[in-house]
Amino acid sequence: MANIALESVSKVYPDGTRAVHDLDLEIEDGELAVFVGPSGCGKTSALRMIAGLEEITDGTIKVGDRVVNDLPPKDRDIAMIFQNYALYPHMSSFDNMAFALKMRGHDRSEIKRRVDDAARVLGLVDVLKKKPRTLSGGQRQRVAMGRAIVREPQAFLMDEPLSNLDAKLRVQMRAEIARIQRDLSVTTIYVTHDQSEAMTLGDRVAVMRKGELQQLASPQELYREPANLFVAEFIGSPAMNLVEATIEGGLARFGEYSLPVDGRAGLGSYEGRKVALGIRPEDFEDAALSDAPAGSRLPVTVDLREDMGSEIFLHFSVSAPHVATEEVRDAVETEEALAALENPAGTPFVGRVGRESRAREGDRIEVAVDTRMLHFFDLETSASISK
Ligand SMILES: Nc1ncnc2c1ncn2[C@@H]1O[C@H](COP(=O)(O)OP(=O)(O)O)[C@@H](O)[C@H]1O
Ligand SMILES: [Mg+2]
Repeated sequence: MANIALESVSKVYPDGTRAVHDLDLEIEDGELAVFVGPSGCGKTSALRMIAGLEEITDGTIKVGDRVVNDLPPKDRDIAMIFQNYALYPHMSSFDNMAFALKMRGHDRSEIKRRVDDAARVLGLVDVLKKKPRTLSGGQRQRVAMGRAIVREPQAFLMDEPLSNLDAKLRVQMRAEIARIQRDLSVTTIYVTHDQSEAMTLGDRVAVMRKGELQQLASPQELYREPANLFVAEFIGSPAMNLVEATIEGGLARFGEYSLPVDGRAGLGSYEGRKVALGIRPEDFEDAALSDAPAGSRLPVTVDLREDMGSEIFLHFSVSAPHVATEEVRDAVETEEALAALENPAGTPFVGRVGRESRAREGDRIEVAVDTRMLHFFDLETSASISK
């Protein structure tokens, strides 16, 4: 097993497409790292360069202490698991997993040991004699993983391996992959466009946009301290509420509202200037359920109440401009959210409040804000403004 290091790695395709730009990161030995970002941001290109399936335009890739830039895929000792796995239909699960080992001339007892070990980890012991068509979708996926596992590679690379499965099976297999990876502790890079998958799976998550790394951090850190507006908007569901605000005399003013920002030294140089203010939905509470001070309460009109059972989403509108920079647009995931960025009437907000909230559609209520949790970003650079 080994760590994987990328040093200033770039990929420019022959047609001039710059798919990956100056990627610098290190995945530790045994770590499960996730690459996440919108379609086209360069995840697959990055993975294929690590696997050796795509030439590197610039930079260095190391596996362990070996530079692998010029090694063919088969000599890199890395197993890649794709979304479209093809099992041999006429072979049993055992033979499907054993195939590559036989081709490599391993002896029978060694093959049996490795396949049995993999089957135990994967929960396939009872279906080793079965052919693919008699297996469930999840079992087939696990056999495909088994074929990679039996090679006992230095690292696994997985490119959206679950995207062909239905939602329920996907969540189940996600948990399986996390468990298997922990059991084997093989360095793994997992690629997905789904931020919730990234957050639940990764020890660390690398967020990419347009071929560039935005932030590499633990899920908690990405969520609590997004490095820029792209990460802030992309990570978290419902997304962070973002609005333009002006910093004035220790207050962030937006629309008819103002919130105290005392003690945020980083905002010192922004006096009188516009910034992006971000508030996570859960940092709101129905003021009727809160003893928050008057200064952190905002009167709002409830546009929509969504009862989620364990909590309630209250939607309301803030009459201040959207933060609709290119970074934010790139991170927005739905057409509705993109359309909302064009709405001149105001900026839609979502608050996640306690399930005891009695607020109904059309009610004029107060919401309390946990002002310690406010996020601020520079509108020009998009970077987070430090505390
Ligand atoms: N073989 C190729 N030739 C030219 N452009 C490519 C090729 N493969 C991918 N691209 C382009 O490179 C960019 C990154 O693609 P990709 O790595 O597949 O992103 P992702 O996996 O994040 O969706 C995209 O603009 C894509 O169209
Ligand atoms: Mg891809």
